[in-house]
Amino acid sequence: MEKTDYRLLSEQLRSLAEISHKPIPLYANASALLFEAMPDVNWAGFYLAEDGRLLLGPFQGRSACVLIEKGRGVCGTAFEKDEIQLVPDVHQFPGHIACDSASCSEVVLPVHKNGQVTAVLDIDSPLYDRFSEEDKIGLSLFVRTLEELLAD
Ligand code: SME
Repeated sequence: MEKTDYRLLSEQLRSLAEISHKPIPLYANASALLFEAMPDVNWAGFYLAEDGRLLLGPFQGRSACVLIEKGRGVCGTAFEKDEIQLVPDVHQFPGHIACDSASCSEVVLPVHKNGQVTAVLDIDSPLYDRFSEEDKIGLSLFVRTLEELLAD
């Protein structure tokens, strides 16, 4: 599989943010960049923290569930524990929420603002074991750029 240049994606996100650092344009362009650049991905987008739950935000892919409770599924777990979740087989993950039945593996990263989780980035793949440690490191860099931009 072709490797994704997460450094380049972070730079592209930075230049797309020149006009505005508001969350919605940032999240919308971040999902579009990732969805286009990452092979074998069927969903890439954000759930936004609101009243202790996760509400669907900007994304690319099939329509998805609107509300996720804290602790539920992969996204709710990343939110509750404030920890990256790398799941090679979603069917083995207790409470996984199947929005698109094609999804087989996923990675979810918390996004912070003022020290709190303000959103999670969720990326799904129709392949098992799609996401490597290298993807996790690259995506962490991308999320750090996003966090810097959100903080300004
Ligand atoms: N995979 C998520 C649900 C969201 S959809 O896949 C877009 C989960 O179990 O948290």
